[in-house]
Amino acid sequence: MAMNGVPLSRVRLTPRTPFDGAGLRVAVIGGTGGIGRAISLFLAKHGAQVTVIGRTFRDAGVPNLSFLAADLESMDAAQRLAQSLPAEDLDALIFTNGIITAPTRELTAEGIERDMAVSYLSRFGVLRAVGDRLGANRPRRARVFLMGFPGTDEKGRPDDLNADAEYKQFPQHLNTVAANEALVLDAAKRFPNLSVFGINPGLIKTDIRANVLGGNQSVRFKVFETVLGWFTPSADAFAAHLVPVLFAPELERESGFHLNKHAAPIQPSTVMTLDHVTAFMAASDALWARATRR
Ligand SMILES: NC(=O)c1ccc[n+]([C@@H]2O[C@H](COP(=O)([O-])OP(=O)(O)OC[C@H]3O[C@@H](n4cnc5c(N)ncnc54)[C@H](OP(=O)(O)O)[C@@H]3O)[C@@H](O)[C@H]2O)c1
Repeated sequence: MAMNGVPLSRVRLTPRTPFDGAGLRVAVIGGTGGIGRAISLFLAKHGAQVTVIGRTFRDAGVPNLSFLAADLESMDAAQRLAQSLPAEDLDALIFTNGIITAPTRELTAEGIERDMAVSYLSRFGVLRAVGDRLGANRPRRARVFLMGFPGTDEKGRPDDLNADAEYKQFPQHLNTVAANEALVLDAAKRFPNLSVFGINPGLIKTDIRANVLGGNQSVRFKVFETVLGWFTPSADAFAAHLVPVLFAPELERESGFHLNKHAAPIQPSTVMTLDHVTAFMAASDALWARATRR
């Protein structure tokens, strides 16, 4: 894959620096916590109008920031969110909502494995619902970013997206990773009106590993995240580096690849062939229909 004939690995994007977000309208699904919250606060501080979506709003009173509540383990809620998002008026839609799988399989009220529901299927449903109209009233093509762990050659299991046949904690989380990567590649083709990219943040100290490490008050969690924090950028530092790149001019006519933890372009995983992406999308359609049937 190349940009203007230059292999992606050698492409250098031009960050929009010093960053001025005035005039930009952005929605961050998962903007209430962790990396999404850091991205949202950076954008708002620099003048962008930001809508954050999540369960718990922690930034009431911050200028330029507004909140839409949605519990995205419910696909009903994802459908309602898609209807209430001001999609036509957005310059960018960023998905950072996510959790990690539980040690034993947990199902939502709609019968969806919880991590698959929150970290992937809700994104799939929202993007499918708003993709055609996203940014329609804006002067430039809207950009969509899906944060996950793309470019790592995770193949996942489109034949068992919901872990109905077999549940293993980390392979099922990696199933959401692969599904998100497939969604980026599919959406880039399906929505030629959009620029769609994955983001792999590397490891960043947040609360996302709390349920794997015994809860956010456990010693194991605190020690792990403290040590991680010594070696990796904070969510705020990562956001300050990432956001100006998300609005790099070169991305305007591009679609369907990923950014790594340095916000540099990387190739899609080689396992993500057209057939594999198609298999993920067929499985996603079926699982979405199952969740929204009732
Ligand atoms: N941190 C890392 O090291 C790392 C590494 C690789 C990939 N990632 C990916 O980066 C993304 C962001 O991760 P993070 O570390 O920032 O996670 P985080 O700190 O746990 O934040 C997760 C966000 O998702 C939202 N969320 C969780 N459950 C939800 C639900 N049921 N309904 C609606 N929103 C929900 C949270 O909102 P509320 O707080 O309002 O519930 C929060 O805004 C995820 O896709 C993750 O897989 C992170």
